[in-house]
Amino acid sequence: MKAIVIEGFGDPAATIQLKELPDPPAPAPGEVTVEMLVLNINPSDLLQIQGLYGVSKPPLPFIPGGEAVGRIAAIGDGVSGLAVGDIVSPMILNCWVERVNIKAHLAMKLPADIDLLQASMIKGNPATAEALLMDQVKLQPGDWLMQNAANSAVGTFLVKLAAERGINTLNIVRRDSAVEGVREAGGTAVTADALDDARAFRKTARELTGGAPIKLALDAIGGGATAVLANALADGGTIVNYGLLSGEQCRIDAQHLIFRKVTLKGFWLIHWFTDAGRERVAATYASVARGMAAGTLTTPVAEVIPFEEAKRAMAAAGEGGRTGKVLMVTKAYSG
Ligand SMILES: NC(=O)c1ccc[n+]([C@@H]2O[C@H](COP(=O)([O-])OP(=O)(O)OC[C@H]3O[C@@H](n4cnc5c(N)ncnc54)[C@H](OP(=O)(O)O)[C@@H]3O)[C@@H](O)[C@H]2O)c1
Repeated sequence: MKAIVIEGFGDPAATIQLKELPDPPAPAPGEVTVEMLVLNINPSDLLQIQGLYGVSKPPLPFIPGGEAVGRIAAIGDGVSGLAVGDIVSPMILNCWVERVNIKAHLAMKLPADIDLLQASMIKGNPATAEALLMDQVKLQPGDWLMQNAANSAVGTFLVKLAAERGINTLNIVRRDSAVEGVREAGGTAVTADALDDARAFRKTARELTGGAPIKLALDAIGGGATAVLANALADGGTIVNYGLLSGEQCRIDAQHLIFRKVTLKGFWLIHWFTDAGRERVAATYASVARGMAAGTLTTPVAEVIPFEEAKRAMAAAGEGGRTGKVLMVTKAYSG
């Protein structure tokens, strides 16, 4: 079987290798074999291949890929609640393989008729949006939050979820062509102006919110973008950084932290799985699966590329200004 293997860190399109590896053996007791169908490429995957993700670099060699959807191909002894043919999202971080054995409890069963392209994106972004919206700061209908990279998959989910709950969103994108999509998703206000000028953005934010206090800022970019958010946030407000798309550490002037009681904290979905508890996590995924089935919680797909052309897929996923996600499909999907 084929797998993407990383033997050194660097530009993903140049670094990844598609290697022939032995098929996994029959699953051990308590395990299942998952045949991968659709493999998602997220910014975190690209950062990890560059050695820029997490606290430390993963030991080499490793198989990347944080997200995919597959089909159960074999079941080990003692596994209940799963059957051959079930569609699952594997809760593992080495998804870019054709087949893999995993512990049965790491196979999240999905509805049989779920759209497979959408299902390959179910694990990370929708739950992140839900957790950022509901589990950081208590917001009431009518309150305001702001976010950057608002046209990303996370950002667009968040806009939709906030609109359903009557929470106002001030959305920042980095290009004019992304404004309309965020507006259509339900964004209360959207701007592509004054992104690197903190003072100008504060003025824009006041105009767009009518001067309402902004209690929560969601930062996917880091660097100077964090400072821009801090300057427009209400006193006592919270910035949650959950990504470093700029490749730079968050910058924030200490005067916000000391004199304006602004809080800067981080969010990682992996911690949320533990912090939120089993019931909240299960309810979130059930609700997301319903939204996907209904077509309300979907992510645009820019390109679907065969797994064999993974280098091309990496290059496409690394492009700015994409119209949606870049996904890879295995022969099992096509066949
Ligand atoms: N902490 C967590 O647990 C967690 C979980 C899921 C996702 N995330 C993070 O959420 C963020 C969005 O992920 P996604 O999968 O939703 O993204 P996505 O759909 O792939 O979209 C990428 C977004 O990033 C913007 N972007 C790319 N490079 C940028 C740069 N240098 N400066 C500013 N903006 C840039 C793009 O803008 P254009 O469209 O203009 O190119 C686009 O809005 C990422 O940082 C990801 O790591 C974090």
